[in-house]
Amino acid sequence: MLLGRDSEMAAVERALADARLGRSAALVIRGEAGIGKTSLLRFAVEGAVEMRVLAARGVQFEADVPFSGLDELLRPTLSLLERLPATHATALRSSLGLGERVETDRLLVGAATLGLISGYAEQAPVLVVVDDAQWLDRASAEALAFAARRLLADPVAVLITVRDGEDSTLIDAGLPELRLSPLDHAAAAALLERAAADTVDPHVAGAILDTAGGNPLALVELAAEAAKLAYAAAGSPLPVATTVERAYLRRAVGLPEGARRALLLMAAAGSADLAAIHRAGDVLGLQAPDVHAAEATTGLVVERGGRLEFVHPLARAAVYHAAPPADRREAHRALAAVATDPDDADRRAWHLAAAATGRDAAAATALEAAGQRARERAAHASAAAAFEEAARLSEPGEARMARLLAAAENAWMAGNGGQAIKLLEAARRLDPGGGLRLDIDDLAGHIALRQGAVREGFRMQVATAQAVQRTDRLKAVRILVDAALATYGAGYPAEILPATEQALELLRPDDPADVAACVHVAYGALAILAGRGSEGPRHLRASVDLFRSISVASWDPLLFACAGTAGNFLREAETGRELLSQALSGAREYAPAAALPTVLFMIGRDAATTERWAEARGYYEEGARLARDTTQFIWLACILTGLAWLDALEGRDEECRSHAAEGRALSERYGMSLHTAWSLTALAELELGLGRPEAAIVHLVGCQALLAEMQVLDPDLAPAPLLVDAYLRVGRVDDARTEARDYQQLAEAKGQPFALARAARVRGLLAVDDEFEAEFEAALRHHDGTPDTFERARTQLCYGERLRRARRRVQARRQLRAALAAFDRLGARPWAARALTELIASGESARVRDDNSRHSLTPQELQVALALAEGRTTREAAAKLYLSPKTIEYHLRNVYDKLEIRSREELASMLRAPG
Ligand SMILES: Nc1ncnc2c1ncn2[C@@H]1O[C@H](COP(=O)(O)OP(=O)(O)OP(=O)(O)O)[C@@H](O)[C@H]1O
Ligand SMILES: [Mg+2]
Repeated sequence: MLLGRDSEMAAVERALADARLGRSAALVIRGEAGIGKTSLLRFAVEGAVEMRVLAARGVQFEADVPFSGLDELLRPTLSLLERLPATHATALRSSLGLGERVETDRLLVGAATLGLISGYAEQAPVLVVVDDAQWLDRASAEALAFAARRLLADPVAVLITVRDGEDSTLIDAGLPELRLSPLDHAAAAALLERAAADTVDPHVAGAILDTAGGNPLALVELAAEAAKLAYAAAGSPLPVATTVERAYLRRAVGLPEGARRALLLMAAAGSADLAAIHRAGDVLGLQAPDVHAAEATTGLVVERGGRLEFVHPLARAAVYHAAPPADRREAHRALAAVATDPDDADRRAWHLAAAATGRDAAAATALEAAGQRARERAAHASAAAAFEEAARLSEPGEARMARLLAAAENAWMAGNGGQAIKLLEAARRLDPGGGLRLDIDDLAGHIALRQGAVREGFRMQVATAQAVQRTDRLKAVRILVDAALATYGAGYPAEILPATEQALELLRPDDPADVAACVHVAYGALAILAGRGSEGPRHLRASVDLFRSISVASWDPLLFACAGTAGNFLREAETGRELLSQALSGAREYAPAAALPTVLFMIGRDAATTERWAEARGYYEEGARLARDTTQFIWLACILTGLAWLDALEGRDEECRSHAAEGRALSERYGMSLHTAWSLTALAELELGLGRPEAAIVHLVGCQALLAEMQVLDPDLAPAPLLVDAYLRVGRVDDARTEARDYQQLAEAKGQPFALARAARVRGLLAVDDEFEAEFEAALRHHDGTPDTFERARTQLCYGERLRRARRRVQARRQLRAALAAFDRLGARPWAARALTELIASGESARVRDDNSRHSLTPQELQVALALAEGRTTREAAAKLYLSPKTIEYHLRNVYDKLEIRSREELASMLRAPG
């Protein structure tokens, strides 16, 4: 029975009850060592009647053995692997060492973990308990965090303990926390009484209660010493040495030498089984009775299912750290010697490392191999640790550098840029020459580009490309393309363009199509931003032809990003758009963690500039979630500003402001000024829609200044068309004219339909009465060549307003009706309201469709609805969105209720763009 934990036990019982009712629950139980976390988990397991339990536990010296935690946790569920989508199953099999080893993606491992847990829960409610998560290997913790965050409507309760002062991915997973504080005085006194063999002298009891400070472990351990303490107490404070760890150590005092070494062997062994301990004991010349004595007489270890476990992690730590270093090394050496099973290769490597003094080539080689295995299983954090340790054990020189570089690569892939940079600096200090030096610089630049020092990273990359171009031309080309595309969000295209020109020069006619395609995209995009007229579109179109000849299976993240960029920059009705959906399905299948946030942003942006706004929101929301999951904050910034812009057009005031604020803050943090500018456009659009041109002007002028400073000359980013409109609305005609003049040139030079349409609209706005008609008609013809329904409707609204003021009511009504219909269909509510007002003023009685339903869906509901509306089954939708089928069904029920529909057909017809 737990004392003094009523509310905590109630919380645990609630979680279990929720799971039984088909609602997922999760709790991260936190508190200091010995406060009662494990005890609370035990209470949960005892209470989990008629539930199935999945359990795992972090072990202090095993944190670097990749997937050891997940392996333990998921073992009972593995028969369900068959039912997972093939890519998920393959990823997990490879990670757990159950199947062919393939390069896997960590999101796929997370998705598979979720699939197994939710599949297991289809037969009975499930309790997942993970104790000591601070020592879980990071790959397991990430997969578990990914799954736990996505459980919603499955009968699963997840309880995780993390000790205070330690780190775990699971702390940052955003799961609800339960904090264990010290026991109150009454509970502490009761525990002391229960734990002591005899009645405790009141003075001693007082002293123990003071010292223990409500920590149950301290109470239990000190109670056992109460008799001895009676002499010391007598009103004075307890000796400082009376800590819990000392209490454990005292139990081992007086052990014979053999038993002492056996105990140390157990502490060093991590989770080795009893047979392995005996074999390692043999190596050390210990006898079976030694092992037995260590176990039996101290009461510090107990045997459970063939494994030896310490009664408490602190007991293990106390024994281990109290031993002389030489003895610890000897224990590890023996454990390594007996870890001959291929499955134990990682453990063996770490034991060898712990046994080493100074440099040790054999241990280093073993760790390097462990790092390689971890890397192939997408356990990048473990791989980084293994390579780093391998480097530490190597002689300075080529091998050590290569290991540091490998450690850095893996740290970066694990999302730990800071560690990666430190490792690269260490590698540089070894002063490598030649190829390795270039690889080190390449990675350093690549990281800098994505960590905020964008322009500086760009310069580093250009230098690296310069150095590598003579020996490896194609590598230089790739570095330049990657650098240019990663940097363009920072603005200053004139500084970046030369790098893409250089890539273009390096290209030869018989180079592979994928390399050529990327070069054309990079050059094309930068040429557009730098205002190089029709140059940009020409190269982008060339890339589109090349992409068609490349099979999707051979695409890598850079190619996915390039394909998306081409589609986005062209903004044409036909060219390049099918590339986006190809890139999306490819990224989903082959490289979700690396490429999905990027591609989702691009396809979201594309959908937002057509009629498919609901889809756009769905893509953005999914992208934002994955970008947060994988800490890709630059893409998160893009997506948030994209969302803000969409919010603005839909008239979602608060959401727009908060998305814009977060997007802008991130853009500024990472130096992505182009997105800062974009967040200002979003705010301006919001004000314009709400009929507040003055407020809009402030944002637009700010945006324009920013773009001018960065010398961004892409007319499609220029706020001029909006500014002209806003100035005219407040009567600042001269300012409007000045704006318009500069803009015309840019638009004509680019020559793309979108730019030409907006330019013609601006001319229409400023034209005198007998000229505006021709301009607006020209604008509408250009609009026909772009898929952007909203901008077309905006032109029609302006046109209609002009016609009405010119008292040409019949024609005015035709334009206004078309504008209203389009705004209405899109869900651009403030704009529909404005079109309606104009239409009524022109003498027509009309109304807007009352379509609040779509707006009331949550982001997650919308994503689910879209996935199903595209014709997927529940399971397919679950696999696509990395959710469980139950969660899909749950959201679908809400969607049906909100939209007042009954079938997926109705859903499809409701969400798909009409016409
Ligand atoms: N509320 C309680 N009532 C009675 N005994 C308790 C209570 N909480 C903990 N204990 C006892 O205290 C000891 C330590 O508890 P426990 O092992 O659960 O701590 P912990 O928080 O898991 O520590 P660690 O961080 O080191 O894993 C155990 O012997 C346990 O039985
Ligand atoms: Mg514990």
